[in-house]
Amino acid sequence: MRTKRQNNQIREMKINLDYTSNPEGSVLIECGNTKVICTAMIEDKVPFFLKGKGMGWLSCEYSMLPGATKSRKVRDISKGRIDGRSQEIQRLIGRSLRACIDLFKLEEKTIWIDCDVISADGGTRTASINGAYCALVLAVNKAIKERIIEENPITCKIGAISLGIVKGNKLLDLDYSEDFSADVDMNLVMNDKFEIIEVQSTSEKKPMTKADLYELLDLGESGIKSVFDLYEEVLPFRKKIVLSSDNNNKVKEIRAILTDTKLDVVSKRQVGFGGMEVDEKFDTLEENARIKALTIKKEVDMPVIADDSGLFVDFLGGDPGVHSARYSLSHDDAANRRKLLDNLEDIQDRRAYFKTVLVYIDENYQEHYFEGICEGEITTEERGENGFGYDSIFMPKGYNKTFAEMTDEEKNRISHRSKALEKFRKFLTE
Ligand code: IMP
Repeated sequence: MRTKRQNNQIREMKINLDYTSNPEGSVLIECGNTKVICTAMIEDKVPFFLKGKGMGWLSCEYSMLPGATKSRKVRDISKGRIDGRSQEIQRLIGRSLRACIDLFKLEEKTIWIDCDVISADGGTRTASINGAYCALVLAVNKAIKERIIEENPITCKIGAISLGIVKGNKLLDLDYSEDFSADVDMNLVMNDKFEIIEVQSTSEKKPMTKADLYELLDLGESGIKSVFDLYEEVLPFRKKIVLSSDNNNKVKEIRAILTDTKLDVVSKRQVGFGGMEVDEKFDTLEENARIKALTIKKEVDMPVIADDSGLFVDFLGGDPGVHSARYSLSHDDAANRRKLLDNLEDIQDRRAYFKTVLVYIDENYQEHYFEGICEGEITTEERGENGFGYDSIFMPKGYNKTFAEMTDEEKNRISHRSKALEKFRKFLTE
């Protein structure tokens, strides 16, 4: 019955990113003749019922501008109350988007989504959900880059489509004239596992069977898949990269260095492999870093990074080197330092360097290595309280204080690990 497209075909969909410049995220989404401006703005406070709970919120407002329809739509403000339909739709959009966000990662911030329909030809609520999702992605990217939020709160993709039964035919993505004469009218929202977030279905004229419902769900899923394909084409998604470590400090340090790349660093615990032991049995940092990365890479379909570091002392022929963590045969930092100081007692040549090797295994299993070295010397006694490992007995070249006497920021500017990470960051951005 359709002449211009197949029954299972969605209308041409266009997503124009950064449509206006003030909001953190802004898009114009076009689905055939339906056009909606969607914006996402971040406010540094939460509604009163969430104050002090350490979580954020996402809220939405939807409206149809007077010129969106053939006969002028009176503005809510002129009626003195919000239109019931708008209220129902804005709640749907808010619920749908909250299903793709970890509110605890938003800290105490509110994301405001605004959807303004400038041209209505059916499917305005589903177009709004898709446009709002895109605006949300843009806003979150900007907030991470500007360090307004630390971690990406978006947990999955969300997509929506309208569909229905018109004169016995199951049609995807109804335009207004189809919607007007539909026996069954449905709106479907799904995540990227094609789990149902919301299904709204009414059969005012002719009821449908359960078999019809299942068929419509399949048809809707195929439409939402096309929406996700378009997202992949146009949206600057951040990609997850797994750090093969459960050390939260390392995760934070690396995350901070990589904020201006499109990578979100997650720990191996966050992808379900916390506590997984790797035997660091090799004699080089390269091999040990590689085995740590490969062990996780075999389990996850994501790029992985791992690092291995050690302290190399000239007089000791490079010891403790790859064995730095267990130099004293225990994993005890204080015992390791004591052993090193004992082995250097009365020795003049105290030159040493820290070295980090970082390995990055990309989506295609290609391995890339980055190295960072920080030269210095071993002091004769412990100095300072900060840091870990050998920090209190290592004085970097050109400084008169140990790593343990420096703040994290000072150390991170010159450390072996940050030098390796900086090379990695450059590799990604160039
Ligand atoms: P990892 O490969 O980063 O776990 O480092 C292995 C061992 O090297 C650690 O257990 C520490 O003993 C030592 N080490 C590595 N980096 C540092 C550092 O920045 N300061 C002090 N000790 C370090």
